[in-house]
Amino acid sequence: MKKNIAVLPGDGVGPEIIAQAQRVLEAVGKRFGHEFVFEFGLIGACAIDECGEPYPQKTHELCQKSDAVLFGAIGDPKFDNNPNAKVRPEQGLLKMRKSLGLFANLRPIAPFDCLIDKSPLKMERIKGADLMIVRELTGGLYFGEPRGRSENGTVAFDTCVYSKEEIVRVAEKAFELARLRRGAVTMVDKANVLATSRLWRETVKELQAEKYPDVELDFMFVDNAAMQLVTAPGKFDVLLTENLFGDILSDEASVITGSIGLLPSASVGKEVSLYEPIHGSYPQAKGKNIANPIATILSAAMMLEYSFGMKLEAQEIRNACQKSIEEGIVTEDLAGNAAKSYGTTEVGDYICRIIEG
Ligand code: IPM
Ligand code: MN
Repeated sequence: MKKNIAVLPGDGVGPEIIAQAQRVLEAVGKRFGHEFVFEFGLIGACAIDECGEPYPQKTHELCQKSDAVLFGAIGDPKFDNNPNAKVRPEQGLLKMRKSLGLFANLRPIAPFDCLIDKSPLKMERIKGADLMIVRELTGGLYFGEPRGRSENGTVAFDTCVYSKEEIVRVAEKAFELARLRRGAVTMVDKANVLATSRLWRETVKELQAEKYPDVELDFMFVDNAAMQLVTAPGKFDVLLTENLFGDILSDEASVITGSIGLLPSASVGKEVSLYEPIHGSYPQAKGKNIANPIATILSAAMMLEYSFGMKLEAQEIRNACQKSIEEGIVTEDLAGNAAKSYGTTEVGDYICRIIEG
C-alpha cells in the first residue's frame, strides 16, 4: 500500500520524537512492503514565528489532502509566561481540531506489565486495567459562544453548548469501539447539575436502545469517576465524556501506566484522522535527546490500525515497544534507578531493529 502522511512535528521535543516515529514507519514499510510518503507542515509556536499564525492555511491543506496526520506537540514557555500574547500555540491545535472536524479523541490506557511498579498507584489496583477514553473534542466549553469579558473587565464567561448531533456522532464511536472490546460504555457527566449533561444522558440512552442494545451502558458523575479511575480503574471499558471532563480525566488516567511518555492518542472525525502522543512539548528537554519517543511511536501504530487497516503491522510496533521496555532500553523517565538510561534516538534504533527483524 502507498499512503501519504502529513507530519507536523510542532514545538519542543516534537521534532525529536516525531523523527523516531517516522523511522519506525519506514522500518514497517520495508518489512511489509508499504510505501509511506511524508510531507511536513508547521503548527504551534514555530508556525507563529515563521508565518504569524499557529495553524497556517498551508498546513490545513496539507492535512486535508493526506491519508492521515502524525502530530508531535505544541507549546512554548515564551507564550505561557506572556498572558498578553495575542496568538498562542494552543489556538493552532484547537483550530486544527475544529477545521478538520476531529470530534472524537481516543485515548487507550493500559499498563505494561513490566512497568506496573512504576505507577504511583498500588499494583493490585491497576493490574488488569484496560480502558479507552473517548473524549468529545470539538464542542463544549472549549468552543462555546459567547465567551469573554464584561465591558469593565471584572466578569468573565465561557459557554458550554452541545447539540444532539454532536453527542450522537461521538457516542457512536464509543459504542463501536466497545463492540470491539469488552462491550461496555460508561458515560461520565454532571447530570445532577448541568443541562448539557442531561441532554448527553438522554441522547446516549436513546442511541443505545435504538442501535446498540448489545452494548452495556452505565452512567457516572464526573467527580465519582475521578475517584474510581485511581481506586478501581479496572471497572472501565470505554469511558465516554465531553471535552473538558475528558481533558482532565485522561491526564489523571495516564498515571495508571507509570509514564505519560507512553500514551498515544487518535483524533478521528469526518475525514482525515490525526495521531499524537498525549504528552506536551516538554520544552526543558528540547534538543537533549532524552524525551521518550514511545508515545509517538505507539500513535503511529494507532494510525496504521485505524486509518490504514494494518493491524498486523500495528501489533508489530506494539510488540517492539514492549520488548524495548522489557529489555530496559528506555529513556530516563522509565529507567528509574537502573544504572543506565538511553537516548531518544537509541530507543528508536532498538525498536526499528526489532521490526526489521
Ligand atoms: C490536550 C491538551 C490540549 C487540550 C491543550 C494543549 C489545548 O491539554 O490535548 O489534552 O486541552 O485539549
Ligand atoms: Mn490535556
